[in-house]
Order: sequence, then structure tokens, then C-alpha cells
Amino acid sequence: MAVLIAFLLFCGMLRSMAYDNGASLAARPPRGWSTWCTDDICGLLDLCFEAELHAIADAISSPPLSLLSFSLILLDDCWSSVNRSASGELQPDPARFPSGIPALVSYLGDRNLSLGLYTCAGTKTCKYGRPGSAGHYERDAKTLTDWGVKWIKSDNCNTGGLGEPHEYFGNFSRALNATGVPIVFHSCEWGLDNVFSWGPSLTQVYRVRPDHLPFWSFNVPGAYPPGGQGTGDIIEGMANASVTAGLAPYAYPDPDFVMTGLFQTEAESVTEFSFWCLWSAPIIVATDVRNMSAFKASVLGNTEALAIQWDPLLAQARRVRAGTAQLWIKPLQGGDAAIVLYNSMDFEAQNVSVAWAELGQPWAGASVNVRDLWAHKAIATNQAGGLTAPLVPPHGSAMWRISLVGILS
Ligand SMILES: *[C@@H]1O[C@H](CO)[C@@H](O)[C@H](O)[C@H]1NC(C)=O
Ligand SMILES: *[C@@H]1O[C@H](CO)[C@@H](O)[C@H](O)[C@H]1NC(C)=O
Ligand SMILES: *[C@@H]1O[C@H](CO)[C@@H](O)[C@H](O)[C@H]1NC(C)=O
Ligand SMILES: *[C@@H]1O[C@H](CO)[C@@H](O)[C@H](O)[C@H]1NC(C)=O
Ligand SMILES: *[C@@H]1O[C@H](CO)[C@@H](O)[C@H](O)[C@H]1NC(C)=O
Ligand SMILES: *[C@@H]1O[C@H](CO)[C@@H](O)[C@H](O)[C@H]1NC(C)=O
Ligand SMILES: *[C@@H]1O[C@H](CO)[C@@H](O)[C@H](O)[C@H]1NC(C)=O
Repeated sequence: MAVLIAFLLFCGMLRSMAYDNGASLAARPPRGWSTWCTDDICGLLDLCFEAELHAIADAISSPPLSLLSFSLILLDDCWSSVNRSASGELQPDPARFPSGIPALVSYLGDRNLSLGLYTCAGTKTCKYGRPGSAGHYERDAKTLTDWGVKWIKSDNCNTGGLGEPHEYFGNFSRALNATGVPIVFHSCEWGLDNVFSWGPSLTQVYRVRPDHLPFWSFNVPGAYPPGGQGTGDIIEGMANASVTAGLAPYAYPDPDFVMTGLFQTEAESVTEFSFWCLWSAPIIVATDVRNMSAFKASVLGNTEALAIQWDPLLAQARRVRAGTAQLWIKPLQGGDAAIVLYNSMDFEAQNVSVAWAELGQPWAGASVNVRDLWAHKAIATNQAGGLTAPLVPPHGSAMWRISLVGILS
């Protein structure tokens, strides 16, 4: 009991650390689109030309995708010129953005979308050595906010000699704050250097795992940062409760973007989206939404799963059962819960079961109504004991919303 109380106090303490500067993009778990890894293996063929971005924005802001309330277009390490201007300002690559950034902000604004731009806290960006912001935090904060940018992602490459990450990310955060513009600051620090303790007070969105690569499993022993970069590896990392404990309005632990579907089975795509929603993580998709498979469209278009991401209670998800037949739960506003039944096996389908008793109170001994958030229908009414998800494919998941009917005597 004492341990539980200490844990709850700790969570409450983290919640109160959230950086609420009124940035509307971070009032709820963000939803947006990023250039990074658009239908390629990241950073190679990313869609990052003005005309392409106009077309993406048109698609995201028109039915049916407009139903998903995506509000952000984030340009990753692709938009800036390799040189600062003569007076030292960041400037866009003129071949990619001939009309300039304010014109893009305006194009997006007409479609109810905001622009986010990538920067790096170090001396150069991670790819292609574009200019970093080290030594220019105030100047870059002014340039970017003057352009009308509403979200700054800051990477962590080439930071040798800059001191502790909480100091330089803190300096960048304070420089942005000093502009007076309520902007989202998204730190990309890969879950290192105890970002769990300082991330929520300096940034509204903070990366808590290494870069997501478009593979299921990518965990090279001795790799830095540690923890693995495949979707399955990230799920394992997010099971550690201290990684996600800071979740609160204006404080989102970020497991990185949602894959396009390249190198991903349909089952893996369902599992990825189920977990990102269960965690109330930012949903930043990289898919070419102008031209995606009907299946990927049905995944991104799962408004029942997206409703879990935006559940107002914003409760931390918890892994109840580890191993090859996993069980996770997230309490929801009003007393329901979302659960994910996940088959982590590589090759075999299996039945994955839940006994209500495993979920603790109030579910133990209850009768329960169950709605399948992928089949979009009720699958059990007044169900006692528990329920089995039949033949969940390898790397696949079932996601259910459960409602308490009553306690059986
Ligand atoms: C600046 O920081 C303070 C303290 O966290 C906060 O109340 C305020 O809203 C911030 N303003 C901006 C524009 O970020
Ligand atoms: C960037 O600056 C360097 C050094 O001044 C110059 O050699 C190079 O041509 C410039 N590149 C572009 C694309 O402007
Ligand atoms: C614009 O986006 C905001 C935030 O997502 C939303 O509240 C608002 O309803 C949207 N307005 C229109 C006209 O779509
Ligand atoms: C951060 O700010 C402190 C205090 O002004 C300063 O000493 C330090 O050099 C700054 N570090 C960076 C990387 O900007
Ligand atoms: C959980 O994450 C925290 C923060 O990174 C770390 O200190 C701890 O060792 C992790 N625990 C396990 C069991 O991996
Ligand atoms: C996207 O467009 C390309 C070129 O027209 C086509 O080869 C590809 O199959 C399309 N992808 C999807 C997922 O529709
Ligand atoms: C799944 O459950 C069904 C019904 O109980 C059973 O017939 C089947 O053998 C099970 N399959 C596996 C792979 O366990």
C-alpha cells in the first residue's frame, strides 16, 4: 500500500510538472503528419517540396481524412538551407520552398493546419549537416515564431561540449518562451539522460525511445541509444512504467512516428496503431496520405481507436501481462477501460485471453460488455469470467473497450 501511495504521489508530481504555455496543439495528444520516413527508409525520399506539402495538406484537410482532426504538418530534417543567411538567420532551401515559409504557414492555416519545423539543439542537424541551433537559440526562436511556426522539434545530434541536455534543451525552451508565442517544443532526446525527470517541465512532447525504424525488430546489441528501434522493441520499452509516467495535458511521452506500412504486415500496423492510441501518444503519421492502401487508410481512419488516444482522463496505460500473449489496460473517463491483447510471437497465431480478475478492481468478479474497436461491433454482453480473442495473428492485437455491467455475487 505504501508503495502504491508513493507511486501515485510520484505520478501526481510529474503531472504538475507539465509545461502548459497555452499552445493549443498540445492541449490534447497531438495528431499530425511528418515528412520523416514517408514511404522510404527514412531521410532519403521524404516528401519535402512545397508542392508536395500542399497536396498532403489538401488530402489531410478534406474528407475522409479531415474526420481525424489532424492539426500539424511537421517538416523534419529536410527543409532548411545548408547555409544561414548573411545576417545569420535560418532560411529554407530555396529549391524546395521557393515561396518561403510564411507562405506555407498561410496555405496550411487556410486548411486549419499548423506548421512544425525541425531544428537541432547541436551545432549541425543529424542528416546532411544543415545548420544547428547551438549558439542561436534566441535568434532561431525569433525567426521561427516570426514566420508563424507553431511547433519546434529539436534533435540532439552534435551536442558535444554543450553541457547537460536539460541545460541546452532548457535554454532553447526558455528562448522560445521569451518570444511570448505559445509554441510546442518537441525534444528528441531518445529517452536518454533522464529525460523523464526534466522533459515534462521544458517541453510538451518529449521522445522517450530511440528513433523508430520501419521494421518490426531492430535491436542491435550494444547499439546507442539502447532499447531497440523496431515497433516491437518500442512496445517493450513503453511497458516500463517510468517511461510513460509523465503523461498529462501538455506533457506527452513520445515513442516516435507511426509507420507508413512499408516493411509492415497488416497485423503489425493494427498493433502499432492500437498501442500508440492506448498510450495517448502523439500520432504523427508519415504515410503518403494521397496514395495509401485501403488497409492503411482503415487503420489511420479508426476513429474508435483515436477516441482512446483522446480519452479525457489521459490515464497511463499499464502492462498487466508480459511475454508472448500480452495484456495491457488503460482506464477511461466514466469507468470503462481499453484493453489490448497482443500476440508478440513472430510466426504463430494464438488465442489470447483475458480473465477479468487479472485486471484488478473493479473488473474482478464483474460482468462486462465488450466492444471490439477493430471489428467496430459489440462482441460480448454481460460476460462473466473473461474472454478470448481467437487466433490473433503473429505481431497482431485485439483492442477492446470494456464496460462494467455489474459485480456478480
Ligand atoms: C512561459 O513560461 C511560463 C512558466 O512556465 C508560462 O506560464 C508561460 O505560459 C510561458 N509562455 C510562453 C509564451 O511560452
Ligand atoms: C554555403 O556556403 C558555403 C560557404 O560560404 C558556400 O561555399 C556554398 O556554396 C553555400 N551553399 C549554398 C547552397 O548556398
Ligand atoms: C480547427 O482545428 C481545431 C483544433 O483541432 C478545432 O477545434 C476546430 O474545430 C477546427 N476548425 C475547423 C473549421 O475545422
Ligand atoms: C545555457 O544557458 C546558460 C546560462 O545562460 C549558459 O551558461 C550556457 O552556456 C548555455 N548553454 C547553451 C548550450 O546554450
Ligand atoms: C525503466 O526506465 C527507467 C528510466 O529509463 C530506467 O531507469 C529503469 O532501469 C527501467 N527499468 C527497467 C526494468 O528496464
Ligand atoms: C502509390 O503510387 C505509386 C505510383 O503511382 C504506386 O506505384 C503505388 O502502388 C501507390 N501506393 C499505394 C499504397 O497505393
Ligand atoms: C483457439 O481456440 C479454439 C477454440 O477453443 C481452439 O479450437 C483452437 O485450437 C485454439 N487455437 C490455438 C492455436 O490455440
